[in-house]
Amino acid sequence: MKHTLSFSRIAFSAALISTGIIGTGFSNAFADETIRDLAKERHRFIGTILNSEWFNDDIEPEFEEIHKTQFNVVVAENEMKFDATEPNENEFNFTKGDKMVEYALANGIRVRGHALAWHSQVAGWVSSNYAGQKDKLLAVLKNHIEKVVGHYKGQVAEWDVVNEAVNDDYNADWRSTNSVWYEGIGAEFLDSAFVWAHAADPNAELCYNDYSLEWGLREGSKASFVVEQVKRWKANGIPITCVGTQTHIEIAHETTPQNVRALAKALAELDVTLNITELDIGFPKGSAGKLTDADYAKQGHLYRQFMDVFLEEPNMGEFVIWGLTDAHSWLDEQQGKTEGLLYDKNYKPKPAYDSIMVSLKAHPASEVKSPYPESLFKDRMDCQTGNCGDSTIAIKPAAIATHLSMQIAGRTLSIAGANAAKVDVFDVQGRPVFSAKNVKGFVKLQDLAEGLYMIRVREGSASLTKRIAIR
Ligand code: XIL
Repeated sequence: MKHTLSFSRIAFSAALISTGIIGTGFSNAFADETIRDLAKERHRFIGTILNSEWFNDDIEPEFEEIHKTQFNVVVAENEMKFDATEPNENEFNFTKGDKMVEYALANGIRVRGHALAWHSQVAGWVSSNYAGQKDKLLAVLKNHIEKVVGHYKGQVAEWDVVNEAVNDDYNADWRSTNSVWYEGIGAEFLDSAFVWAHAADPNAELCYNDYSLEWGLREGSKASFVVEQVKRWKANGIPITCVGTQTHIEIAHETTPQNVRALAKALAELDVTLNITELDIGFPKGSAGKLTDADYAKQGHLYRQFMDVFLEEPNMGEFVIWGLTDAHSWLDEQQGKTEGLLYDKNYKPKPAYDSIMVSLKAHPASEVKSPYPESLFKDRMDCQTGNCGDSTIAIKPAAIATHLSMQIAGRTLSIAGANAAKVDVFDVQGRPVFSAKNVKGFVKLQDLAEGLYMIRVREGSASLTKRIAIR
């Protein structure tokens, strides 16, 4: 029902535009759009990490340009983890985290904090000084959470309070080995972590975050175990507000979007938000260089299905991808996978980018519910907190502002403001159906069947997208 309505509205407005009944043709009727703008209109957040290379000023200039234009929520890849923020006992280092918060504030981007209590990337001194000593470990964890959350109070909107505390066994239970917190304290470290984080910033959202939750709700599954814990936490007044499903998946994992939908529905019953926190959809590493258009279209289709679920479930808030460009991704470095992100190694958007845009457009803002208050999405020049929504500062850098415009009349696409444009047309599933290079003036879209399409025109860094109906 929702889809039927959405598509008929798009068809209606696109038909009006293409026949010239409404719209101003060459000017604002074809204003450029970003996935950030579309997410914001729907009162949702779309984001990606700042890679460690960004913190070290060792990344291409395109990275930041695209990052702040296309995304409105950000996470540090490694720089807010325990070993980065408290490398020595009670000696805190917030330099890199502060750099990110400053960048986020200047660009109207919400900040996720990642991660407070995790078995991995804990500073070495914790185990070497205190392994197995319950009271000491409780004091260490409490101090860490108080200092870190306290430092970022009002600036970090949401914390991954506990990360990956469930094991990988068939009968899910707490991770009981290689976890200094669990082995020394027991499962109560989780409850305490949430309580301490809430005391340090009562307005921050507090998440439990884990991987493989997208494998579904089944007897003994990780997702079912987590839902049971959330029930217990809520019943006991533990201040959890969200669950993060990391969603590091592979191209073959075709059922996972629907598993995420089922998890969202189960958490909605408990009044808890579900966020996609670390999405990537990797190909096997050996396939690099051999991937076909059909492979990228399949990846786009999966991205789109995740975005569809995200927009259709009212208790989902953030859609975060673990990386921006395939040039900088933990998949290649550590996972034996490759090419899982929205932009290729040359910062060109892949079909997955277009699929996400198509999904956003197919779900009009009027039909997308949000778990957040409207005030979060108001424009504000003077933004004092990370919770404050979009500032108007530097959201659209000059390089992205475009002189391009386009108009469709019948099957003729007229383009102004370009000497050699690249034109791409996609169907509503995000699959490429037409492409032309070096277009000046106009191009005929002869072979397209009747229907709805997305058109993208690009020249250099200028880019314009528009939906149309071909009749
Ligand atoms: C990864 C980073 O991307 C790597 O740079 C680092 O070496 C290891 O951690 N789940 C998480 C993230 O919660 O923190 C991990 O990030 C990826 C898996």
